[in-house]
Amino acid sequence: MQKEFIEIKQLYRNKEQYIDKTVRVAGWIRTSRMSKNFGFIELNDGSFFKNMQIVIDEKLENFKEVGKLPISTSLLIEGTLVATQNAKQPVEIQATKIVVEGESDNSYPLQKKRHTVEYLRTIAHLRPRSNLFSAAFRVRSVAAYAIHKFFQDRNFVYAHSPIITGSDCEGAGEMFRITTLDLNNIPKTEEGKIDYSQDFFGKEANLTVSGQLNAEIMALAFRNVYTFGPTFRAENSYTGRHASEFWMIEPEIAFADLEDNMELAEDMIKYIINYVLENCPEEMEFFNSFVDKGLLERLHKIVNSEFTRITYTKAIELLLESGQKFEYPVEWGCDLQTEHERYITEQIFNAPVFVTDYPKEIKAFYMRMNEDGKTVRAMDLLVPGVGEIIGGSQREERYDVLMDRIKECGLNEEDYWWYLELRKYGTATHSGFGLGFERIIMYLTGISNIRDVIPFPRTPKNAEF
Ligand code: 4AD
Repeated sequence: MQKEFIEIKQLYRNKEQYIDKTVRVAGWIRTSRMSKNFGFIELNDGSFFKNMQIVIDEKLENFKEVGKLPISTSLLIEGTLVATQNAKQPVEIQATKIVVEGESDNSYPLQKKRHTVEYLRTIAHLRPRSNLFSAAFRVRSVAAYAIHKFFQDRNFVYAHSPIITGSDCEGAGEMFRITTLDLNNIPKTEEGKIDYSQDFFGKEANLTVSGQLNAEIMALAFRNVYTFGPTFRAENSYTGRHASEFWMIEPEIAFADLEDNMELAEDMIKYIINYVLENCPEEMEFFNSFVDKGLLERLHKIVNSEFTRITYTKAIELLLESGQKFEYPVEWGCDLQTEHERYITEQIFNAPVFVTDYPKEIKAFYMRMNEDGKTVRAMDLLVPGVGEIIGGSQREERYDVLMDRIKECGLNEEDYWWYLELRKYGTATHSGFGLGFERIIMYLTGISNIRDVIPFPRTPKNAEF
C-alpha cells in the first residue's frame, strides 16, 4: 500500500519529474483554510519538514465534508502536482479525490498557536507532530547517521558495549542497580549486607554509565573503535543539561596520545555540523528563525575555525583574572562548574575550547598521570551555549601507576583484574573520549533543554511514555 503514495519530500526535491502529473500522497492535516467554493489544506506526511499545499474546490465529490475536517485528520489524496509562482512553496496539489483515513477529534491539542515546550513535554505522544520537535528529532536521526559515517569512513570498528555491567567506569557511584531479588525479602549475608550471590548474575549488576572500559578492550585489538549507545546515570540533577538516560559516542584509539584525541574530536564535531547543515537545510533554517537567531552564523564560523586549547591551570588563571563573581568560588583544584565553563567558552573565547590537564583529584582513575604527579591527561571540550559536550583523556597504560591509582581512588582492584591485564599483555598508549549525543543536538539546534532533544526523556521523577 505504502508504495502507492509518493513522499512529499520527493515531490519538492524532484518536482520537474512530477509537475502536471497525477500523484497520490498520504498525510495529516496541519492546517486548513476554507472559503465557500474552494479551500487550502496544509498536509504533512512526515517525510519532509515542509507541508504540501492541497487545493480543493467544489469539483471534489466530498468537498463540504473535507472542508470541515479537524486538524490532524489523516487523508489519502489523489491530484495533479502544479507549479506555483511562490518561491517558498513552488508546487501544490490540486486534489481530484480525497479519502478520509482517520478523522481526528476536535479536542486535538496541537491547534494552530504557539505552545510552551513545558506543555508539549506533557504530551510526548503528540509533540513529534509539532514543527519544533519534528525538526529536532529529524536532526537527531541525521546526526546519528553522520556519526556512524564519520567513523566508518575512517575504518573504525563499531563496538557494542554491554548495557548491563558489573563495573562502575567513572567510579562515581551514580549507577542504576538492576536486580531480580525479591525486594520484600532481600537475602542478607552474615554481616547483614545484601547477598548478591543469590541475584541473577551472582554479583551486583548495573546499567552502564559508559562503554569506555569495553571500548579500551576492543581498541587494544582493533586499534580504532567507537561505541554509540545508551548510557544511564542516577545523578539527581534537575538541570537542563542532564538526563538519566542519554546516548554517548565513545571512540577509543590505540597508539594515540591526547593530541591525537583532540584532533579526532575536533574533526568529528566539524563533520557532524557540516553534515547536518547540508542534509537538513529546512530544519536548520527553522531553528535559526524560531529558536536561536545567530545559530547558522555561529555554526558556519565554527566549522571554519580552529578550536582553542588551554590547560586547566590556565583556565583557572583566566577566571581569576576576569574579576567575575561566580556562585562557586574559583581556585586551583576546584571542579569547573557550568557557570565557569560557559564563562570560558562564551565570554573569554566565544569559541569551542579544549581544557586539558586537570587535577587528578577531580578526574577518574583511568586517566594518564602527568610528570608533575598532580594533573592527569584529561580533556573536556566546552562550547558556547551548552558548556561541556565532550569528556576524554589519554588512558593510563602503565600497570603499576594504574594499580596505584585504583587503590588511591578507593576502588576494589579485583573488580578491575581484566582491565589491569590489558596493561600486562602488550600495553599501548591509547586515548578516547565520550561525546554526549544530546549535548551536540542541543548545540546544533539551539534548543536549551535536554528534555526537548530526546523523544522520550528520562529525568528524575519522569518515566511516562
Ligand atoms: O565526562 P563523562 O562522564 O566521560 C565519560 O563517561 C568517559 N568514560 C568518556 C570516555 O572517555 N570514553 O561524559 C562524557 C560526556 C559529557 O561530556 C557529556 O556530554 C555527556 O557525556 N554526559 C551527559 N549528557 C547528558 N546527561 C548526563 N547526565 C550526562 N553525563 C555526561
